[in-house]
Amino acid sequence: MVNWYDKAIIYQIYPKSFQDTNDDGIGDLQGVTKRLRYIKDMGFNTIWLNPIFVSPQVDNGYDVSNYFAIDPILGDTDDFSEMIEKAHKLGLHIIWDLPINHTSDEHPWFKDAVNNANSIFKDYYIWHDAVDGHEPNNWGSFFGGSVWEQNPTNSNEYYFHLFDKKMPDLNWKNPEVQKSVADIAKFWLEKGVDGFRLDAFIHIAKANLDQNSLMTDEKFPIDDTFYAKLPAVKDYMAGFVKEIKEYKPDAFLFGEASSAKARDAAEYTRPDGNVCDVVVNSDNYGEVYDDSNKDIPKFFQNRQLSLDSLKRTYVTWESVLDHVSLPTLTWGNHDISRVLDRLNLPVEDDKVTKLLAMLLFLQRGIPVVYYGEEIGMHGLKYQKITDFDDQRALDLINSLRQKSYDDKTILNLLNNQDEMTARGPMQWDDSQYHGFSKQQPWNWAQTDTNNVDQEITDDNSVMTFYRKLLRVKKHECFTSGNYQLLITDPKIYAYLRKTTESKGLVIANFSDQKKTFALPKVAWKSVLTNESIKKTGGTIELGPWGCCALESRK
Ligand code: NOJ
Repeated sequence: MVNWYDKAIIYQIYPKSFQDTNDDGIGDLQGVTKRLRYIKDMGFNTIWLNPIFVSPQVDNGYDVSNYFAIDPILGDTDDFSEMIEKAHKLGLHIIWDLPINHTSDEHPWFKDAVNNANSIFKDYYIWHDAVDGHEPNNWGSFFGGSVWEQNPTNSNEYYFHLFDKKMPDLNWKNPEVQKSVADIAKFWLEKGVDGFRLDAFIHIAKANLDQNSLMTDEKFPIDDTFYAKLPAVKDYMAGFVKEIKEYKPDAFLFGEASSAKARDAAEYTRPDGNVCDVVVNSDNYGEVYDDSNKDIPKFFQNRQLSLDSLKRTYVTWESVLDHVSLPTLTWGNHDISRVLDRLNLPVEDDKVTKLLAMLLFLQRGIPVVYYGEEIGMHGLKYQKITDFDDQRALDLINSLRQKSYDDKTILNLLNNQDEMTARGPMQWDDSQYHGFSKQQPWNWAQTDTNNVDQEITDDNSVMTFYRKLLRVKKHECFTSGNYQLLITDPKIYAYLRKTTESKGLVIANFSDQKKTFALPKVAWKSVLTNESIKKTGGTIELGPWGCCALESRK
């Protein structure tokens, strides 16, 4: 281990929802600064902020119109400097989202490309003439419909957008684009940021545009073949990453690759690879979907955590990334409903919440905790379907209403799975708006009552457990030990972590029955558990949903 980020324990903050200090109902950078001590005391050492650049907020900041300034709804450069300075004083690193695949259509590059016939920025984006008066091909956008939108000043020409039509894709084939994005990164590194989450980097290369997807289920099918993980991604990233690393060798590049499998992650994080340091995907939750109803798109289907699938996932990622890089360990983020609402587990019992945290985060890898998870926070529960206004929700509502589904059923699906439910205000206390703001928060609906104030002094709270867990994570065996999944009862998740100095063992009983586990024959000491455990001779008895971390020194 040579870099600071090999020991990163990341706290993900959705800045608009974390802490509002000017009472406009929207969180801000001063709010992050105000809570740095809390983050530090919890045991995190790194913060990842969702995008904070100037943005029309079509996609909550992922649509950037000025990369060189902070969005005024969140603060200004002075707030940024104060936040970074105070974070660094506390020994906290800060990274943030750098959307590199696209800009906003209100970015000066795009405006110039559209309005100026001789624009040098035309080639910053991807264009194609209409074919027979239509979109150049049938590729589908991740946000619905075609990836093509007409040039507002020339209806015979289209520009490419993988996400919203107000988020045109950059043309990474153009070395000027690579250079310009590197300049943005260097600007912020100079100002003190410690690295970036490279948003959607696996999509920066596109296949030959003159071909159609053969998928026929929809008019504009989403077909990754043409715009995800193409070989050119690595070529385009190489120069950009080299420039960043030459400028700041320990800049942490945390690559977002939603559909990456373990082998892709290994390829992108090879030490000589010049792509990124770690990869985070959005698929490692051990979920199995109920796909019996074909009317419901996968994203909104009910799901269940399958322990078997989780074991397979991690044994693969840990093995494939061994000697290459660290896996990221996460239960979710801003793009999916909260873990406690999504997996159909008996989470009324805090033991389950604690078990989920322990079994995941003590594995080999970098924990990434989504704000609020550390207090067992649930998602927002909206009262009516018209409360939802994100594109994915609107598409679902539209499609299911056409098929005569009633509103109650649709509301249920949305409340269980839609990403906006996960972006609610952080719950600091039991006041009207949870101590987040004095104004009604920008994203607001019914919530549970868990809050920091109440949990901070409670020895049995989820928050106290997280604090202890992150302390344990820093023990040598749980930071640097190798990983070995143990073959056990199908309802037990157990693994060993070993270094030459010490051993760690985690055992989690994923069932509502008592379970007995035979301990490997060394002198074990329990370092954390979510119940009072019974250890007799060489066995340990775990109650329903019990979990335990043990250590042994050589
Ligand atoms: C991935 C981000 O996590 C998501 O929120 C965003 O919509 C897309 N990238 C597009 O930037």
